[in-house]
Amino acid sequence: MSTLKAVRGTRDLLPPETELWNFVEETARRVFARYNFGEVRTPIFEDTQLFARGVGEETDIVSKEMYTWEDRARAQSEKAQSLTLRPENTAGVVRAYIEHKMGETGLLQKLFYIGPQFRRERPQKGRYRQFWQIGAEVIGPPSAGSESPLRDAEVLEMLATFLDELGIAGWRLEINSVGSATDRPRYLAALREALAPVKHLMCEDNQRRAETNPLRVLDSKDPNDQEIIEKLPKIADYLDESSKEHFAAVLAALDRCGVPYAVNPRLVRGLDYYTRTTFEFTHGGLGAQNALLGGGRYDGLSEAIGGPKAPGIGFAMGEDRLILTLQAQAAQKPAPADAYIAPLGEALNPAALELTRDLRRAGLRIELGDGSFRLKKSFEFGNKLARKIVLLGEDELQSGILTVKDFATGEQVKVPRAELAQSLTA
Ligand code: HAM
Repeated sequence: MSTLKAVRGTRDLLPPETELWNFVEETARRVFARYNFGEVRTPIFEDTQLFARGVGEETDIVSKEMYTWEDRARAQSEKAQSLTLRPENTAGVVRAYIEHKMGETGLLQKLFYIGPQFRRERPQKGRYRQFWQIGAEVIGPPSAGSESPLRDAEVLEMLATFLDELGIAGWRLEINSVGSATDRPRYLAALREALAPVKHLMCEDNQRRAETNPLRVLDSKDPNDQEIIEKLPKIADYLDESSKEHFAAVLAALDRCGVPYAVNPRLVRGLDYYTRTTFEFTHGGLGAQNALLGGGRYDGLSEAIGGPKAPGIGFAMGEDRLILTLQAQAAQKPAPADAYIAPLGEALNPAALELTRDLRRAGLRIELGDGSFRLKKSFEFGNKLARKIVLLGEDELQSGILTVKDFATGEQVKVPRAELAQSLTA
């Protein structure tokens, strides 16, 4: 029988790597709390229509990459429904915002999430079919200030702070404005006009996009089409005064806070809901899939899925890519335990478990050996797993004085049991 393996594009996360995942998530929770965000958890699958209407039918995500199935009706009263594993979380958060009438508080909602997303993409380094995002959304009625460029700058400043606290060096922020709903038709008309005489030279996908959704041509990665794309009109030239002012205000606040950025006029991003500010943080160490995170403003998304006017801005980080970057930065060593407890003989196992329990309750990280091991084996295991080894023999048990050896210095000392926890943290 052939052995069963994790499905292509999915993977198991194992210790010690999971420790790094927890560190990233703890850092996110700590930093986001300082900015007054609360956690939201939405379902992993949603009505397919949510993504079709929210993310956009013509996007790669919706047209090619979703895991969609027809859910059977289980009772006569139930209708068969098309369901989809979420390819991203913004549409789900906005649906929840609408469903729970969160706008009626009159306040901005600041929500963050951590969870798996699913896209049927071609797997490669940094690109998986099940991947994890850590994201956040700021959304609310315009009267709560949800359209203010200050919100965009605050989110970007939070991201810079988060990446710095995480210890990711060398990130780069690219930013653009894709204009408001009123700028868009003028720009699209100009794009269509520019594409008309050249589109037959482009790849099949771009020929189709030129008709249905010309903005998507701009983020095409097809190498043969880049020369044509380079010469297409730039959205910056089609922004009206208020969009220009909005973008300038975002950049001015970033300048004031010392958040470095580069304006990239071709950054349109792969989702249709974006308006005005869009951005990506990239990292050179990631290779082809170099986007650590992406985000932007989506002032019309709530209305597009049947809700009230609720402008918003947010981002999602690829957690897998944050981990890859951290691992590349410092060849990862598992954090050693504070001590390895070595009972000298099986009869001492219960006493060793008791000692281990007390040390763990004192907050220490302890590995417990086994009294059936020879001393040499205990030292070998101890050296691999912990900074120090504590020997627990009959003498130690009687006298209450334990022998502790430090693997790094080779120093061996006798420590009274009452002082053991403190001496192991030193
Ligand atoms: P996105 O650019 O599609 O935006 O994804 C955000 C990030 O998720 C990417 O920058 C990347 O780090 C990670 N990512 C995407 N696909 C994969 C994959 N197949 N494997 C590994 N990582 C991946 C969004 O999802 C928007 N919802 C972001 C947003 C929030 N915009 C406003 N609010």
